[in-house]
Amino acid sequence: MFGSLSAGARQDHNKRARGYYRTDDQTTQGICHVLGLRAHTQHITLFDPCCGEGIVLSDLQNYLTTCTDDQISINSYGMEIDGQRYLASCEKLTQVLHGDALYGIASSAWASLLFFNPPYGYTKRGIKNVRLEQLFWEQHANRLMPGGVLCAILPVYLFYRDAPIMADWLARYLEPGQTRIYRARTDQFQQIVILGYRRISKDGLVREPDPALRILLDPDATYPDLPSDYLDTPLYEIPEGRNPEVFRIHALSKETVQHMLEGKSAKAFFQEFKMFLVTEHATQQKLRSVGPLREGHIPALLASGGLDGIVADNNNQYLVRGTVKTVLDTREPAKEKNPDTEENGDSGSKNHKVTITTRRHETRIMAWDMDTYELLEVV
Ligand SMILES: C[S@@+](CC[C@H](N)C(=O)[O-])C[C@H]1O[C@@H](n2cnc3c(N)ncnc32)[C@H](O)[C@@H]1O
Repeated sequence: MFGSLSAGARQDHNKRARGYYRTDDQTTQGICHVLGLRAHTQHITLFDPCCGEGIVLSDLQNYLTTCTDDQISINSYGMEIDGQRYLASCEKLTQVLHGDALYGIASSAWASLLFFNPPYGYTKRGIKNVRLEQLFWEQHANRLMPGGVLCAILPVYLFYRDAPIMADWLARYLEPGQTRIYRARTDQFQQIVILGYRRISKDGLVREPDPALRILLDPDATYPDLPSDYLDTPLYEIPEGRNPEVFRIHALSKETVQHMLEGKSAKAFFQEFKMFLVTEHATQQKLRSVGPLREGHIPALLASGGLDGIVADNNNQYLVRGTVKTVLDTREPAKEKNPDTEENGDSGSKNHKVTITTRRHETRIMAWDMDTYELLEVV
């Protein structure tokens, strides 16, 4: 177990909500005002690596279908760590994966549009504190095809205060002279909206950064509002994309199974997912124990995923999946009574609230009875 003093109530809320501050509708509307489709486009793909309830991506999808009279197909892909938000987004998007997008695997260079509004804040990597935005960028920037449109919503202080390296990354990633930066419609989170095309590298040479993006390093810079109406000519034309050949997260959750079972017979689901549930580790390697296995080893092996797959006892067969879930709890420490007033004291300062965040790693073992398809939670 790991405990830490939190940085304050707002940050604690942020952690509990896993940074869920969805793009406000007015900002989405403003973004639609600058977007259009490239001529003769037949199929486009949209990707949001932290899609929340899928609202912004499905709004963009709906808007883009109205941009042409031609037949166009649009596929939207998302990843989301929160179970309820994942289920909500499955109703709106073409394919959503439930799990930690920082471990999501997908092909490179396929999305016509990358919508990038990750959770904001710091996380620990070893002994270092690293910005989450940076980790999500490193993991997913490559999904956008060269020539595709980036729409990133990020806190403005990220660039001049917390992670200036990201200004350099964007300046090398985006097509010079074509990037525009706007204020988000809401002032609540000091967000800016960065729109641009991913560079098409013609000769494989090292890319010179776009000097125009140095503005991101200036704390006093001001940015215009997004256009309040549709433009005669859209500023960004979304190009033809393709579906990813690989798109997966190696984690199977109750919510994923719930979603997969909807509209499908349980039998079909199990056939499809038998392979998924059996990890590469379990299919490709025979587990050898250095000593005889004792009873206490089995739960540990199950929880670590080492025994994922089909496990049988004398009566039944079960499909088993072990997983570890990180649970955050935040609370205020008990207040000491002030003996003079009998009122709760607050250690001197009225405004300074300290809360304690504790992080637990809970092991869960899920097993599906292969006769009844019922989920049994073992631990
Ligand atoms: C700022 S919200 C953005 C939601 C949506 N993209 C939008 O713009 O409206 C960030 C989302 O990332 C999700 N999230 C946080 N950490 C994640 C992780 N490691 N993997 C996948 N999603 C994550 C949160 O649950 C939240 O829904």
